[in-house]
Amino acid sequence: MNQLALRSKFNEVFHKQKLYFFAPGRINLIGEHTDYNGGHVFPCALSFGNHCVFCKRDDQKIRLHSLNFPQKGIIEADLNSIVYDKNNDWANYPLGVIKVLQNHGYQMDHGFELLFWGDIPGGAGLSSSAAIELATAVAMNHTFNLHIPQIELVKFCQEAENKFVGMNCGIMDQFASGMGKENHAILLDCNTLKYEYVPLDLQGISILIINSNKKHSLVTSAYNDRRRESENALKALQTKLPVQALGELSIEQFEANKDLIKDPVERKRAKHAVYENQRTLQAAKALKAGDLETFGKLMNQSHVSLRDDYETSCPELDIIAETCWGIPGVLGARITGGGFGGCAVALVKDTEMKNVIDTVRKVYHDKTGLNADFYIASIGGPARQMPKMY
Ligand code: GLA
Repeated sequence: MNQLALRSKFNEVFHKQKLYFFAPGRINLIGEHTDYNGGHVFPCALSFGNHCVFCKRDDQKIRLHSLNFPQKGIIEADLNSIVYDKNNDWANYPLGVIKVLQNHGYQMDHGFELLFWGDIPGGAGLSSSAAIELATAVAMNHTFNLHIPQIELVKFCQEAENKFVGMNCGIMDQFASGMGKENHAILLDCNTLKYEYVPLDLQGISILIINSNKKHSLVTSAYNDRRRESENALKALQTKLPVQALGELSIEQFEANKDLIKDPVERKRAKHAVYENQRTLQAAKALKAGDLETFGKLMNQSHVSLRDDYETSCPELDIIAETCWGIPGVLGARITGGGFGGCAVALVKDTEMKNVIDTVRKVYHDKTGLNADFYIASIGGPARQMPKMY
């Protein structure tokens, strides 16, 4: 027996195996703020995300550490009395998932240590929090043999974020992280959770992610307000129409009934939700037909709608999108994710990529003093266990 095998035997005998899990971040191509409005979204899982190493303990303690937040040290909790604590900061995401699993009757019968490291830039709107949640959920599922189907893990993670963390998000981020497929986008109907994988056959075109480095903060931002405004608009429409969600409305139905929504701000929010849902369906159709020109135009319209009607853009992201629109080789560009900062997504011809990046970098810095970061998206698989390590 060699040294390595002996070491791994030690770990096995004394239950010190370290198990390794990964959950991806996501980029949403189109369909923004449509998930909680019962519409469609069109995200994909990224090849980067959150890595998590699990090691069993013999007592009932949970000890958590993130290499992305070293200053927070090791955060401890008791498996039998998990509560939200603002001071726990990032660790509320994994703790929330564990608590939700317990609330649903799943037992974790001993404590553990979890070490996280994410290669997704935090606060960039690429769902680093959903990736932490899904990595935790998959780790619990495997190590405690809970046998929970992946789609249920997705729902539990959303519940953790809604009820434990207090962010009223829809299901898109958790779904993309939990159900992503390599080189495919996911057309998801958030009303029914029916979904379809659409191949990303981009023929000499790449998905460029542009990080404005203007950090967003969803919980403290106006995200929950947007959700409430949309719900109020729906209630106004329901005085006449038998619909359960804005996503059920066609553009014609909306235009014929929009005056039922008396508040002009709520009317604009509803307009975005209805039109964006239709744009998402058209975009998926265009992608299937290989019509990336149309796809790009729909992305541009999405940005305008988020800027003017849903008002979740910000000057920095407007500069990035509008600069992109003027550069040859860009088919479309828009803000992506929850908004109020974060990233833009653009479809760019590979032959023009260098010029696009150089131009956006310069214009953005000249106008804002900020440096943007650029990543060419590589579309990866779902949250999963990685090969065993010791
Ligand atoms: C955030 C939320 C998602 C979704 C997007 C906007 O990422 O977590 O549920 O609402 O914003 O499309």
